[in-house]
Amino acid sequence: RLAVLVLGIESSCDETGVALVHADGAALPVLLGHALHSQIEMHQAYGGVVPELASRDHIRRVLPLTEQVLAETGRGLSEVDIVAYTRGPGLAGALLVGAGVACALGAALDRPVLGLHHLEGHLLSPFLSADPPEFPFVALLVSGGHTQLMQVDGVGRYTMLGETIDDAAGEAFDKSAKLLGLGYPGGPALARLAEQGDAAAFKLPRPLLHSGNLDFSFAGLKTAVMTQANKLGDQLEARKADLAASTEAAIVEVLMKKSMTALRQTGLRRLVVAGGVGANRALRGQLNAACAKAGVRVHYPELHLCTDNGAMIAMAGAMRLQSGIEQANCAYAFDVKPR
Ligand code: KG4
Ligand code: ZN
Repeated sequence: RLAVLVLGIESSCDETGVALVHADGAALPVLLGHALHSQIEMHQAYGGVVPELASRDHIRRVLPLTEQVLAETGRGLSEVDIVAYTRGPGLAGALLVGAGVACALGAALDRPVLGLHHLEGHLLSPFLSADPPEFPFVALLVSGGHTQLMQVDGVGRYTMLGETIDDAAGEAFDKSAKLLGLGYPGGPALARLAEQGDAAAFKLPRPLLHSGNLDFSFAGLKTAVMTQANKLGDQLEARKADLAASTEAAIVEVLMKKSMTALRQTGLRRLVVAGGVGANRALRGQLNAACAKAGVRVHYPELHLCTDNGAMIAMAGAMRLQSGIEQANCAYAFDVKPR
């Protein structure tokens, strides 16, 4: 019987996250506590993530956050059984911080370590919610770097159904937001402005909507947004909310329709949405409505666990160990997988 305390460390991009998850037997692992530091404010002045600054800040934050989680959960470092960390994808220098600290802790404590795929963390993050899913399900993974539809039959049993051939959904949000002068990160800012706008105001393309497969393409959207913004000229300021709402509607409609097609094609009755864009209210609204109509159950991570965090990494580690598909090991000579 597996009973382990897993320490999870996430440092792939601009958030440092640390968490403690407890796995006992076959029951769903439980999150005991987590701490997060976002670098958003630091990168804001540059309009995007500066990799070197990200690495340096992860170094500053990771141990204090670890101490914070241990203090808040009343646990000692020596009680940790396994150290899980994000091995990739992400920024190489940022990943090296989490991997280095995880392996150093493992070596010092004489405990095994486990390197994880960042996206698997996102994918399994809904299992941390009050309404966790059950296998099998269709997963819509929408983050800043990825847009994928997957069939998920169990932990580690993932079949790709479709993915973006160019930009990710989060990237489409971010790049359009940048064109509208909304700063970084653009997704949440564009979504906020869109709430005051008319989504039907501008006709923007829905690329690959009728392609007959489950792939996505969002690169053309930012060009269409730019063309529209240029056309508006002096009027852009007054119509910005309308343009933001129309952009969001274009992204959301494609994500919703393709998700529903994936459910029809696989015959599955459960949808799991994960990744930063999963926090988007318009997307949640449309998916909830479509799934209710189709008799499909839909699950999301808790809002604060949609974007990067340590809890999802500790959870993914715990679930992989539990399912027996992976053993943590004492090979402390770490490497990272930026791609
Ligand atoms: O999963 P995540 O934190 O990082 C990656 O692994 O990429 O996702 C970040 C992405 C960014 O593109 C951000 O703009 C987007 O998620 N995002 C949103 C919202 N919140 C975060 N996009 C639209 N609406 C939101 N509310
Ligand atoms: Zn992420």
